[in-house]
Amino acid sequence: MGSLYIDASVRGKDSRTRALAEQIKGHLGGNWEEINLRELTLLPLNEERLAKKQELLSKSKYDDPSFALARQIKEAERVLIIAPCYDYLYPALLKLYIENITHMGITFDYDELGRAKGLTNIREVFYVTTAGGYLDEDIGYLNIKAVFNGLFGVKSIHRIAAEGLDLVGCDIPAKLKQALQEFKNQTEEKK
Ligand SMILES: Cc1cc2nc3c(=O)[nH]c(=O)nc-3n(C[C@H](O)[C@H](O)[C@H](O)COP(=O)(O)O)c2cc1C
Repeated sequence: MGSLYIDASVRGKDSRTRALAEQIKGHLGGNWEEINLRELTLLPLNEERLAKKQELLSKSKYDDPSFALARQIKEAERVLIIAPCYDYLYPALLKLYIENITHMGITFDYDELGRAKGLTNIREVFYVTTAGGYLDEDIGYLNIKAVFNGLFGVKSIHRIAAEGLDLVGCDIPAKLKQALQEFKNQTEEKK
């Protein structure tokens, strides 16, 4: 079973989101293929790149090198995304990644009624996040849910979060531990 670990944390070794994600990964078990988005040179769509993408897709040239990330995620059955809350969303790195995987004909298509249908093997998504404050709603998570459920048809999407980490006096290790424990409890309940 393929599992993909997508690291969209901007910070390296000091990232609390990654520390939490490592714990979640350990709990889930299995082998994970890792992509570190900081190490990729992802470019935003512009007029030229969009036209090229559309031309390639219209000719069904799905094996083009520019679609490598889409082909990779298409094969994964489990996906874990590491993304701290940035400006009520997630780091731009993750948006760039999403622009590189949402390709009609590769990861999704539309049926005759115009409804999106997923073309990936993904069964489960784990969105691991932390925030400095407390969020009324996690727009980053809602967006990921919209993409993975709305476009790719994935039904099982989990949010694992530790909030309030930048507030004075926050016991960060305790918060991370609590988030892990809550996730473990949820997975136990489902067994
Ligand atoms: C550029 C930037 C934007 C941020 N925006 C928010 C925000 O909108 N809401 C919030 O609660 N925390 C925000 N934070 C705080 C981070 O979400 C918080 O510190 C998080 O734990 C960082 O994760 P990390 O330790 O994995 O880097 C922001 C931090 C940075 C650096």
